[in-house]
Order: sequence, then structure tokens, then C-alpha cells
Amino acid sequence: MATTVVIGTQWGDEGKGKIVDLLTGHADVIVRFQGGNNAGHTLVVEGKKFIFHLIPSGILYGDKLCAIGNGVVLDPKVLIEEMDELAANGLSVTPEHLKISYNTHLIMPYHRAMDHAREAAKAEGKKIGTTGRGIGPCYEDKIVRNGIKIADLLDPELFRDKLEENLKYKNFLFKELFGTDTLDADGIYAEYQKYAEKLAPYAANVSVLIDDARKEGKNILFEGAQGTQLDIDHGTYPFVTSSNTIAGGACCGSGIGPSKIDTTLGICKAYTTRVGEGPFPTELFDETGDKLQKQGVEFGATTGRRRRCGWLDGVVLQDAVRLNGIDGLVVTKLDVLSGLGGLKICKAYDVEGRKFSYMPANIRQAQAARPVYRDIEGWEDDLSGARSIEDLPLKARNYLRAMEEIAGVPISIVSVGPGREQTLLLRNPFETE
Ligand code: GDP
Ligand code: IMO
Ligand code: MG
Repeated sequence: MATTVVIGTQWGDEGKGKIVDLLTGHADVIVRFQGGNNAGHTLVVEGKKFIFHLIPSGILYGDKLCAIGNGVVLDPKVLIEEMDELAANGLSVTPEHLKISYNTHLIMPYHRAMDHAREAAKAEGKKIGTTGRGIGPCYEDKIVRNGIKIADLLDPELFRDKLEENLKYKNFLFKELFGTDTLDADGIYAEYQKYAEKLAPYAANVSVLIDDARKEGKNILFEGAQGTQLDIDHGTYPFVTSSNTIAGGACCGSGIGPSKIDTTLGICKAYTTRVGEGPFPTELFDETGDKLQKQGVEFGATTGRRRRCGWLDGVVLQDAVRLNGIDGLVVTKLDVLSGLGGLKICKAYDVEGRKFSYMPANIRQAQAARPVYRDIEGWEDDLSGARSIEDLPLKARNYLRAMEEIAGVPISIVSVGPGREQTLLLRNPFETE
């Protein structure tokens, strides 16, 4: 029995989907614990590409139990679309294989509308560049105790009451503050009652389910979304998402105690990307940045936006190791660095003459951070065919060693392409001695 948490160490899109899919082969239960359909997790299996936004990537195996924890914000429309898409690909999602916590909060149409209205009303330079999926407004309602949970959806009277209460506030803001369209309770009620009917068989106490699985000796995998620097508490606030993306979120967001987590794997791209606004000290605005974007095919899996690209940031990596308690690193997209010439890894920031070894909390300082680089020799070889660490050229292995030195933790997995087979597994977190 082992429990493993997989989280992103940077600003999301580190390749979590691919790695979760790979580890799912060794797991029995896969749990999403935060975020919502702002996530876009890509898997390439036998040349076929799948992008998951809400359902844990493990669903592709067909025989695993997938769970959506209380920490997730769930848009039922998107979930049902994702289920239908899987069914069209011959994989029917049944209540036997997917469970949703009664405590999971629902994204409502007014959350999406609020997300758009807020972003549109913000001045340039203040926009967050959200995914527009209603994530922030939904978490906001949860925190102020106005949210609507799956358990409420399944109680029509309670649902109607909460819906009307919420709409009173939201419609006032839409009309008076934003000057946008108001929303109608009857329409939303009818739409959500259909979702209630469809989703009722999937609702469960996910905390109990995880506990039972653990006691039965099963392997449990927690699939993080976003990345450490997008964490609401520890990220580059306010340019963050609205949940705790760090490993601790797996406990609060699913209902398992911290002492029951065995391993935390931090996924780290061999370089850095960011979608949306906010500080990014190692961002490149030159030819190398363009090359990383092109070679890495760096487009958002959810919004299709071009991802900003830059060198690997060792400060961000060290923050991630500390904040998540990472036991093992997973380096992805090492293949993308081929043919770039000399490489650089940021080892510290210079902020107006002051040295920083962590991300400054002051957003102006974070914006002003200038990277201090360590130069590392690059390589020309194509790495995509490598299947063991020995297949890698010495210079690529030196780069990995530099990453281990900076992180202070060993590398467990190296990924050299999007496919399942393009993976070098050095240590399996589910194989306990
Ligand atoms: P996630 O959000 O962390 O799951 O990552 P995304 O799916 O948004 O973005 C990662 C992208 O990189 C996807 O298109 C993956 O198919 C791709 N990918 C993952 N690992 C590798 C790798 O090692 N090499 C290359 N070239 N692509 C990879
Ligand atoms: P995965 O799981 C990359 C970013 C958005 C925006 C900020 C806030 O695929 O790694 P939100 O809609 O969450 O309120 O947007 O967070 N963001 C992501 N960036 N990968 C993600 O998920 C992201 N989810 C949110 O671009 O900057
Ligand atoms: Mg993604």
C-alpha cells in the first residue's frame, strides 16, 4: 500500500497528466483534490491525444477507481461533456469507476459570468488572465459560505433556495456594477436538475472511500492541478489560481490525514512556462524563447493560449521542494532542450541589488527580479528515442545532475516525449522496499 501525491512545481502544464497516466498503471485509486476545469492534462496513448479537464487522467485505464474530491470546483456541464466525449471514444464512465464528493462545490453559470465580467473590468496590467471558467468566483462563494455543493444539488428545495439567494447578490452586481446581463433562476434550476439526475449515482463520501481503499492495502494516487507558483497562499499573488495547489492541498481537498501520505513527486519541466499574466523572472523574449515555444509546442491545453517560455528557474524549484516536501523529482520535456546551444539555469534573483533565494512576496519585487544564471553546456542529440538514463548523452545527464543539486532531492522519472513509452523510470514511488 502506498499513497503518492503528484504536483506541479512551476506555473502549471509541467506534464502532470502524462506522469499521472504512467503511474496509474501501478495505482488502484486516482483522486483530483483541487482546481477545476481550468486544468488541461494531456495524455498521448498509442499516438492518440486525450485532454482531461476534470476527470482524473486515470480513467483511461478503464479498471481504476477515479475520485473528485471536495477541494475541486466542479462545472457539471463540463463534466458531462467530458463523460460524453470519453463514451464517444468507446470508454463509458460509470458510477462504478467515478465518484464525486458530496462536498464538492459546483461552478454555476453566474461564476463563469462573474469571472469574465471581473477580468473585463480590470485595467491592463491588473488582469490576471484567468481561464474564464468561473474558478475564482466559485471558490470565493465557498469561502464566504454561499457555495452550492453536490449534496445541495441533490436536495431540490435546498438548491432552489441557495440559487435564489445567490442570484439576488450576483444580479445586483451584474446590473449595477458591470452593466452585463442578469441571469434567471428558473432556467438555471431546470438545467441543474438535469445534472442532478445524471450525477446522483456518482456522489459519494470520498474521504471514507479513500480510507477504505487504504485499509484494503490499495495504492492511491493524488493528481494535482496547476503548479506551486499558482498556489493561492504561496504563489505569485494575485497572479495565481484560487486554490492550494501544493501537496498539502491533497489532504484538505480529499479528506486524508497528512500522516497517511507516503510520497510527493514534483513535476518539473526542464525549462519554464507560464500562461496568463504575472511575474516570470526567467522569461525569454528572444529567439531562444521562440524556439522553446515551438519545439515544446507550448500552447495552453485549456484555452489554446501561447505559453510564455523561459529558462529553468532554480529558485522556483527550491520553493517547490520546500513547500511540497518533495521526495522525488520528475523532469519532463528534457527532449525540448536539444539543439538550443548553451543552456542556463537560474540560481538566485537579484532584486534591486538584494539577493533572493526564494520568490519575493511583494509583487513589485517579484516583477523586478532579475535571474542570476549558471551556464550549462547544451547538446544537439535527439533524446526522444531514449529509454534508459544510459541512452542520454553525457551533457543531458549533467543537466539532470545540476537539477538534482539545485533541488536537493533525487530524480525519480525523466520524460523525453509525450508518449507513455518515452519515459525513463528511475524510482517507482509505488514500489516500497
Ligand atoms: P499538465 O497540465 O501538467 O498535465 O501538462 P499539459 O498537458 O498542459 O502540457 C504538457 C504538454 O507537454 C502536453 O502536450 C504533453 O503531451 C507534453 N509532454 C509531456 N511530457 C513531455 C515530454 O517529455 N516531452 C515532450 N516533448 N512533450 C511532453
Ligand atoms: P494545469 O493543471 C497553467 C492560470 C491561468 C491564470 C491563473 C488564474 O493544466 O497545469 P484561473 O482560471 O485558475 O482563475 O486562472 O492560473 N492557470 C493555469 N496555468 N496550467 C493550469 O492548469 C492552469 N490553471 C490555471 O492561466 O494565469
Ligand atoms: Mg495543463
